[in-house]
Amino acid sequence: GFLAAGSAAVISAPSGASASAGKLTVLYGTESGNSEELADRAVKEAKKKGFKAVMKNMADISPADLAKVENLLVIVSTWGDGEAPETAVSFHKSFMSEGFDLTGVKFSVCALGDTSYEKFCEIGKQFDARLEQLGASRVAPRVDCDVDYEDSYNEWFGAAMTALAPAAPASVSTAAPATFAPATTEYGKKNPFPAEVIDNVLLNGEGSSKETIHAEFSLEGSGLVYEPGDALAVLPTNCARMVEEILDAAKLKGTEEVEVKGLGKRQLAVALADDYDITALSKAVLKKLAEATGSEKLNALLADGAKDQLREYIEGREIIDAIEDFAPTGLSAQALAGILRKLPVRLYSIASSPLAHPDEVHLTVAAVRYESHGRIRKGVCSTFLADVAKTGESVPVFVQPNKNFRLPADHNTPIIMVGPGTGVAPFRSFVEHRAALGAPGKSWLFFGDQHYTYDFLYQLEWQGYLKDGALTKLDLAFSRDQPEKVYVQDKMLEKGEELYAWLEEGAHFYVCGDASRMAADVHEALIGVVQNFGAKSREEAELYVENLKKSKRYQRDVY
Ligand code: 2AM
Repeated sequence: GFLAAGSAAVISAPSGASASAGKLTVLYGTESGNSEELADRAVKEAKKKGFKAVMKNMADISPADLAKVENLLVIVSTWGDGEAPETAVSFHKSFMSEGFDLTGVKFSVCALGDTSYEKFCEIGKQFDARLEQLGASRVAPRVDCDVDYEDSYNEWFGAAMTALAPAAPASVSTAAPATFAPATTEYGKKNPFPAEVIDNVLLNGEGSSKETIHAEFSLEGSGLVYEPGDALAVLPTNCARMVEEILDAAKLKGTEEVEVKGLGKRQLAVALADDYDITALSKAVLKKLAEATGSEKLNALLADGAKDQLREYIEGREIIDAIEDFAPTGLSAQALAGILRKLPVRLYSIASSPLAHPDEVHLTVAAVRYESHGRIRKGVCSTFLADVAKTGESVPVFVQPNKNFRLPADHNTPIIMVGPGTGVAPFRSFVEHRAALGAPGKSWLFFGDQHYTYDFLYQLEWQGYLKDGALTKLDLAFSRDQPEKVYVQDKMLEKGEELYAWLEEGAHFYVCGDASRMAADVHEALIGVVQNFGAKSREEAELYVENLKKSKRYQRDVY
């Protein structure tokens, strides 16, 4: 980790500090809600320590506001290929490019990320460097957290508090960083609910090249609640074949005992199935493997000058390949466990409305299977849901709220939804919900997939909703039913006049699905629609769309 034990910055309180702690702003940029949750926690804990603490969402403030801040904690996540969270894009952009004088601001940054991405914690790193550049002083070192962020966060927060707080009054205990014991009676993140699978069907017809699963889970007795727009976190079990292959490659039996952090002694095979991420290859994993094996070949790959070779090696490979390549004589059980991180949960946008399906939650999941470097690869959670989580099985889940993807508060407000492929999931929830409420607002869905015949997800439901009026308009883009590709954004442009009219009536615009290309293309199309049909210049159209975003009428859930 970045905070070696005992090295946490011990920077004495500024001279002249009064006995009561000062003002503290906890600034967060969140995508799936983790940064927001941590910011909330940080504020509560800081208040206990006497700070006048407030939390601020990057979506709601501008960088210039930071000049007035005394003490600043930044908690921000990184998405995909080093991107800022959706709701923090504008703030991040102006913070990086415009000039501000932050002299006198004391700060520390907690970066959330995922080591399986190359640009791990990139946005947090950028904020950290830029804050210093703008004159602010770093009072505790940045922490870069992997998906399993609890321990790193607690350590960071403790160090930051120590650095920012004046000598603590005698009555306040500073013995240990705050611990957040799970309420064992409650189901949630710390204690996932074993949800019974009550249905699991393939949505695509025979002949499709897609494998999209519709899975239904019972939440009965869980106390878990959700709203349309929220995600369900699923804790998968690793593929049994993969566990065997890893054991073979490491030349282990699986009956060995290992110490799993937080869980105590476990049988290796069980830990590999349930506790560890045994597939995602990253620089972090390779570094630990290099330490465990002393492999010269691997050390050469990890050398500073070999960045391109390292990227090339990781591309399309998994942990199993690295063990075979760099630990040909095998590993000890504890060494193997030592290179692995905790198995992360996967988030899926919920596809059902709690009003339409009380005590149930539904998901729409694309099973990921492909071949690379001569091996069949399987998405851990998507194929767990497709192959293992059959009806009658139970799967650990919890609800991850997403306040940035919500139906309009006013049921009269029109909604426009763009959701090709599995991106349609939350819109099934939206439309079901509005139907159950009898909401009068108009709704318009743009859906796309490869073929009408095999891939029209929830076809009968949409047609039913069209008939009874719960869905006002449906536009379809089946990309491979004709020689030239047709995508949802083409349909948006085709229907641009009406789309613009809906926006002018106050419609909310939602996009869900592929982040790498679709979301960007749909964004462009939206600007194009506003430009063409609103008789605006390019700049005016961009501003119009930016304002939609600012007023939370343009929301995205992209992955
Ligand atoms: P394709 O696979 O034929 O390229 C859901 O996966 C649908 O999204 C498919 O029809 C897919 O088309 C389409 N799709 C692929 N790239 C896209 C993009 N950049 N914008 C919108 N849709 C896209």
